[in-house]
Amino acid sequence: MIRLNEHFSKLKASYLFADIARRVNAFTQANPDKPIIRLGIGDVTEPLPPVCIAALHAATDEMAQRATFKGYGPEQGYAFLREAIARHDFQAHGAQVEADEIFVSDGSKCDVANIQEIFAHDTRLAIPDPVYPVYVDTNVMAGRTGPDHGGRYDGILYLDSTAANGYVPAPPAQPADLIYLCFPNNPTGAVATQAQLTAWVAYARQHNAIILFDAAYESYVRTPGIPRSIYEIAGARDVAIEFRSFSKLAGFTGLRCAYTVVPKNLKARDAAGQEHPVHALWNRRHTTKFNGVAYPVQKAAAAVYSAEGQKQTRELTDFYLGNAKLIREAVTKLGMSCIGGDNAPYIWVNTGRDSWEFFDLLLNKAQVVCTPGAGFGKCGEGHVRISAFNFRENVATALGRIAAALR
Ligand SMILES: Cc1ncc(COP(=O)(O)O)c(C=O)c1O
Repeated sequence: MIRLNEHFSKLKASYLFADIARRVNAFTQANPDKPIIRLGIGDVTEPLPPVCIAALHAATDEMAQRATFKGYGPEQGYAFLREAIARHDFQAHGAQVEADEIFVSDGSKCDVANIQEIFAHDTRLAIPDPVYPVYVDTNVMAGRTGPDHGGRYDGILYLDSTAANGYVPAPPAQPADLIYLCFPNNPTGAVATQAQLTAWVAYARQHNAIILFDAAYESYVRTPGIPRSIYEIAGARDVAIEFRSFSKLAGFTGLRCAYTVVPKNLKARDAAGQEHPVHALWNRRHTTKFNGVAYPVQKAAAAVYSAEGQKQTRELTDFYLGNAKLIREAVTKLGMSCIGGDNAPYIWVNTGRDSWEFFDLLLNKAQVVCTPGAGFGKCGEGHVRISAFNFRENVATALGRIAAALR
């Protein structure tokens, strides 16, 4: 009989969200009169900006007419979108990225998951802890790790993000080939400074490594001087791939649009030591396995770059940051330390106790659901993630209940 890819069986059963659901269901069954507020979710709650809706409608009308109908588009994305991205997201900020270095896709999740396929099986990985689980799990599936021992896989160099380093790991002493970095971070909400990213770029250049920079939350950066793109760091074009998404910028989690930047001068070696452009390989992979994002969706994404679109998306992210501020203030008032929330939609709370114990306390005493930090990695223990993606009234009610429960 055909055999399965047994690397999948190494995956730590990711019970995080299933376990949360089980505990929440048990609570609601026992307490049907006590409504729950979820402050754990990583999904947006506000509708799409009006400019995006208008663009979607107009593009749908184009699809209804033979003269303007669109079938398959370019796999890498339409020029109108790639050019707008290059101009607004990079060149306007002094970062050198050209339109043909941008690969439009239906989500950063797929891109950060798929990118590892173009690198060798024995690529040495460096991955932060706590972490967006996709980076680890996709490398486990690909057979690039050994088994899991007490929450960590053999073969991964873990980069601890703890209170001691301000939740931003410095480059390690050991060499690595492929480094996953995410700033503003999910789950911690931490941001990296220019100096911290410069150290990472220097490390990558020294070790001929590649940084996979996940900037899914860059639109939440407000502090002047905090880089939004790795390409704001000199020399990064030679060593970094960047991932961006319209999901948290413009509420596209259900519409699906993102992009990946692969600079043309980024190189990797074959077994014989010969250098090859990574761009060509990713282009081959992308065009072989992907057939482009829907035309109306790309039109909606392009609308984000209009003057009105910039204003509306700013209002949207400002709204969530307003929630984040309320959460930060409430948590601090309760005497707990936290980071995130000022340049990110997540607040990482140092609870000073077991993260599931704290989760149960909030659920049972305040009917508020958060995300236990232990679910994001060993270093997440002792923390919970609170998300700013919610209605304002829910945030206010939840914070009132938490304050009463912990008093
Ligand atoms: C760090 C990070 N990267 C990527 C993604 C995926 O984004 P997308 O909706 O574009 O697939 C998420 C979504 O939560 C995320 O938190």
